[in-house]
Amino acid sequence: MEPFSPELLKGKVILITGGATGLGRAMGEKFIALGARIAIASRREEVLKQAAEAMSLESSQVFHKCCDVRNPDQVKDMIDAVESHFGHIDILINNAAGNFISPTERLSTNAVDTVLNIVLHGTFYTSLEVGKRWIAEGRCGTMLNIVTTYASTGSGYVVPSAAAKAGVLALTRSLAVEWAKYGIRQVAIAPGPFPTEGAWSRLSPTPELEEKMIGRVPLKRVGNKEELANLAAFLISDYAAYMNGEVVTIDGGEWLQGAGQFNGLSEVTDEQWDALAALTRRRK
Ligand code: HXC
Ligand code: NAP
Repeated sequence: MEPFSPELLKGKVILITGGATGLGRAMGEKFIALGARIAIASRREEVLKQAAEAMSLESSQVFHKCCDVRNPDQVKDMIDAVESHFGHIDILINNAAGNFISPTERLSTNAVDTVLNIVLHGTFYTSLEVGKRWIAEGRCGTMLNIVTTYASTGSGYVVPSAAAKAGVLALTRSLAVEWAKYGIRQVAIAPGPFPTEGAWSRLSPTPELEEKMIGRVPLKRVGNKEELANLAAFLISDYAAYMNGEVVTIDGGEWLQGAGQFNGLSEVTDEQWDALAALTRRRK
């Protein structure tokens, strides 16, 4: 069942970095169904072209442009191209990311730079370029940054990503205050595990690792891309107009499972609880 009016995003022009695959594509498809026109930008021309063709409900509704967000000149050219196609941009979704699991001591400095440059610098360049234009034109807008739950907690084995996403979260909260006076709103989503080709091939490449991941989620399942796309649609819509600087977690309770000191007690059986109750009640 569709939770929104099909006109929720009518007339909006939305730029999604990394919008040809995974969560970016799921968001794009949702936004189109809700009346938006979208631009998708990432490095691989063929992937972009195929996605744009498959996503378009009508001609010129999906624009695509090759861009490596690590390169500020390419970011500028990409935004020029989107503006000349659609005239302007209303909403920016910073979704492009790079990540892989590795013990930190095995990383080269280039591996560190690669992830920091895509996630932190890329997001910053895109927000800066779009923000400068909105401010110069007096245009209101919304920026949605896709972070992770470990942006707040940190996480071993994905340390460049954790550091970069923490930076993106700081960017979200900082600009929420600084650019509010221009009518520019900032929000973020912190997803837990959502199986996408890009994430799973780099972060959960074996069935054992996937099972472990699901086992950590109190709801005992991974996320569905549609669930994330619905949240994103709400956050960028006018219904969320008073939300600014907020990060919304969508992870089935995963990070809280790890955080709560006694959450491991969910392993205890009924019989064991009977024995434990006898011991703990005796203390009265
Ligand atoms: C150690 C690695 C590595 C790995 C690459 N490197 N993969 N080091 N373990 N698995 C090192 C390389 O050896 C090289 O260093 C440096 O990183 C750059 O690698 P390249 O392959 O040359 O970089 P590039 O072609 O730019 O590709 C970037 C990438 C790649 C990040 C490495 O994975 C990519 O394109 N990713 C984009 C999509 C993606 O990551 N999606 C997942 C997002 S999921 P040297 O020193 O050898 O030159 C996410 C949150 C998930 O972010 C949360 C899950 C719950
Ligand atoms: P994905 O499909 O691999 O998405 C990453 C996208 O970023 C790809 O389309 C990729 O396209 C693009 N990209 C990578 N490097 C780029 C660069 N230098 N310049 C421009 N575009 C670049 O993975 P996903 O799971 O959908 O991830 C989407 C977002 O969700 C990311 O921000 C990720 O951190 C976040 N997230 C995902 C999960 C999850 O479980 N899936 C959990 C938490 C957070 P090209 O390779 O063609 O450039």
